[in-house]
Amino acid sequence: IITCAAQQTVVIGLAADSGCGKSTFMRRLTSVFGGAAEPPKGGNPDSNTLISDMTTVICLDDYHSLDRTGRKEKGVTALDPRANDFDLMYEQVKALKSGIAVEKPIYNHVTGLLDAPELIQPPKILVIEGLHPMFDERVRELLDFSIYLDISNEVKFAWKIQRDMAERGHSLESIKASIEARKPDFDAFIDPQKQYADAVIEVLPTQLIPDDNEGKVLRVRLIMKEGVKYFSPVYLFDEGSTISWIPCGRKLTCSYPGIKFNYEPDTYFDHEVSVLEMDGQFDRLDELIYVESHLSNLSSKFYGEVTQQMLKHADFPGSNNGTGLFQTIVGLKIRDLYEQLIANKATAPAEIAKV
Ligand code: ADP
Ligand code: G6P
Repeated sequence: IITCAAQQTVVIGLAADSGCGKSTFMRRLTSVFGGAAEPPKGGNPDSNTLISDMTTVICLDDYHSLDRTGRKEKGVTALDPRANDFDLMYEQVKALKSGIAVEKPIYNHVTGLLDAPELIQPPKILVIEGLHPMFDERVRELLDFSIYLDISNEVKFAWKIQRDMAERGHSLESIKASIEARKPDFDAFIDPQKQYADAVIEVLPTQLIPDDNEGKVLRVRLIMKEGVKYFSPVYLFDEGSTISWIPCGRKLTCSYPGIKFNYEPDTYFDHEVSVLEMDGQFDRLDELIYVESHLSNLSSKFYGEVTQQMLKHADFPGSNNGTGLFQTIVGLKIRDLYEQLIANKATAPAEIAKV
């Protein structure tokens, strides 16, 4: 039945500002599907696409309609919809979703120019990541699942300092200025997309250290929409209840400031959601198994899979805190969603014909 039906790609949207951990998240996600994603072989070395057996990740910067010079001349930022071609984005995501290959443009981040396009074949799972996956209503409707990485200003600032000051030699003042300059467009065009996300990972400064301004210890919240088809939220102990849990005891080593979990139902932009929160960080990653054993609905294939995934990528940023943990969990939930969608298609060929 499957072979005679048109191939259909499952489409996932990942939205965040740049420098907010999208590529790290993508590496965790593609790893859950087995095999690291790599740039297309023999193509443009500046391609932004990543391909593995199961997944193709495309970067929405490729749909910039204005190159760097064009943006300067018109005085618009890359965040501004006027610098992006949503008609083409829609046409191409729609084509890929229905099994048709496309010639996708490439935005060259080195030169700031639009390069010759590359051929993208329809994958099993297409991830569109970037600034605007949920901005255009038509594109939004093509998404089978959507995620928003919501990094608070304090944390964004701390990460930018770490990267741009320590690694790229920028001054504190120039980093502050560039964040400030992006903020109006970020608030107008990027941030509002979070209301459409099926899952939001919110990253905030810790509440365990009074007046913390280092941004090293993080409070991370996984906000999961209720009632999303093929997605059932993870929970702690007892579904739908409100629980505060400090696991540091005999089984989990915690040095100052410790770890605190919180789980509760809530509303988010008028949607019913479940929120799982982790404040603090792990001292020893292998002890995460203790936390994992208390979480339910993880969609893991075997006991300990979350911990195994985290250990496998212990060198990725955020592996000792809720950012890495929740990214890994969302990866497992997406695998589950994909498998359910495929299984459902196999048993409902009439549905496929309609699509
Ligand atoms: P993007 O793809 O959104 O631009 P990256 O995944 O490349 O973001 O991350 C950009 C930088 O942000 C990393 O080099 C790192 O310094 C910092 N970073 C990302 N995720 C985390 C995290 N979970 N914890 C700490 N720092 C992080
Ligand atoms: C990409 C990124 C943007 C960034 C831009 C640089 O499009 O996604 O976040 O702002 O490049 O733009 P600029 O106009 O400074 O070259």
